[in-house]
Amino acid sequence: MASWLLQILVISSLHLISLSSQQETRFVYENFRDQDNLYLDDSAKDLGPLRLTGGATYETGRAFYKKPIQFSSSGPLSFSTHFVCALVPRTGIEGGHGLTFLLSSSMDFPNARETRYLGAFNESTSGFPVLAVELDTIRNQEFGDIDNNHVGIDVNSPISVGIASASYYSDLKGKNESINLLSGKPIQVWVDYEGTVFNVSISPLQVQKPSRPLLSHPINLSEIFPNISQLFVGFSAATGNAVSAHYILWWSFSTNRESLPRLDISRLLDISELLEVLILQLHIRVYRRGLLSWLCVWVLWCWLFLQEFISTGGRSIQKCLKHGRRSLMHIGSLTSPCTKQQRVSARMSS
Ligand SMILES: *[C@@H]1O[C@H](CO)[C@@H](O)[C@H](O)[C@H]1NC(C)=O
Ligand SMILES: *[C@@H]1O[C@H](CO)[C@@H](O)[C@H](O)[C@H]1NC(C)=O
Ligand SMILES: *[C@@H]1O[C@H](CO)[C@@H](O)[C@H](O)[C@H]1NC(C)=O
Ligand SMILES: *[C@@H]1O[C@H](CO)[C@@H](O)[C@H](O)[C@H]1NC(C)=O
Ligand SMILES: *[C@@H]1O[C@H](CO)[C@@H](O)[C@H](O)[C@H]1NC(C)=O
Repeated sequence: MASWLLQILVISSLHLISLSSQQETRFVYENFRDQDNLYLDDSAKDLGPLRLTGGATYETGRAFYKKPIQFSSSGPLSFSTHFVCALVPRTGIEGGHGLTFLLSSSMDFPNARETRYLGAFNESTSGFPVLAVELDTIRNQEFGDIDNNHVGIDVNSPISVGIASASYYSDLKGKNESINLLSGKPIQVWVDYEGTVFNVSISPLQVQKPSRPLLSHPINLSEIFPNISQLFVGFSAATGNAVSAHYILWWSFSTNRESLPRLDISRLLDISELLEVLILQLHIRVYRRGLLSWLCVWVLWCWLFLQEFISTGGRSIQKCLKHGRRSLMHIGSLTSPCTKQQRVSARMSS
């Protein structure tokens, strides 16, 4: 009887394992704090929002979903992803350089560079395959950038194969509306792939997914990634002399495009509040640095004063004060319209 039960248990658990191994990849992150299956690299931190760079110069940050993507075995290769990000420039300096959504055969980017390489590329195009969707806020003419506010599709190189100024098609107005990527406000991004079509759309948080994509480009994922069973998805961001903090607030992904978890904006409230605190801290840090240098100057001055006081037993300070009083009197006598004698006689006659 007991062995019977055991047999059933073993068979059913084996069945479960085989089911889960066939499962396609589908996930949603509404908060990034202490989450399973996240691989964080360089400056990336899970502060509630996922912070890729924190507002320092020459930073890179990356984060990946730790498990390789499992595509459906039936039908053409496909996936959809939707995320909400915020690019926040630091007070008083130019914002940059941008963030990317990454597809890569490796999670380790030891040689990826900051600045215009966005933490995803370097000067060399050899190495493992990388596909990036960039939200780029600096214009690099040597990479063929059209402006300092664009979206691009990059294959193994920061020179985009598809590029467009950041905008969305407004169904309401029937025209394109531009978006300022560096507004610091949450921006929605969609990446949809099926067969050989790779689409990218963006929109402000309050606006639904546009009916027309911003970019639609022919891409064959199996050509770019010969071993499609080893494909990771994630994000990268970088700064240089231009500095922004780069955040991801929400992220969903599915290899079955119909079952992509939907964004419920009301669930974004908590994370948006956390973001506001982080942005405030970012700005305070700048002011605090200013205050700190003032404080340093004052401390140094007091220390020098004290040194002088101790070394001369206070005499030089007295001399200084006396000298100060004398020079004040000197100024007084210069500005006074009459001499001491005139003043005394004036007082006597009154
Ligand atoms: C960067 O360059 C090296 C070769 O110098 C290469 O092996 C590596 O894969 C490149 N790409 C990235 C993203 O690190
Ligand atoms: C990409 O956009 C085109 C043009 O709107 C559309 O016909 C196609 O279905 C889209 N493909 C995907 C995978 O979203
Ligand atoms: C709107 O943007 C799309 C995508 O960049 C572009 O193909 C189209 O020509 C634009 N339409 C207008 C009217 O500018
Ligand atoms: C995509 O590339 C793979 C590998 O090169 C090839 O076998 C396949 O036919 C291509 N798919 C399409 C639709 O061109
Ligand atoms: C493809 O990737 C899988 C998963 O990482 C690995 O087990 C397999 O050996 C790879 N195949 C080739 C030909 O590299």
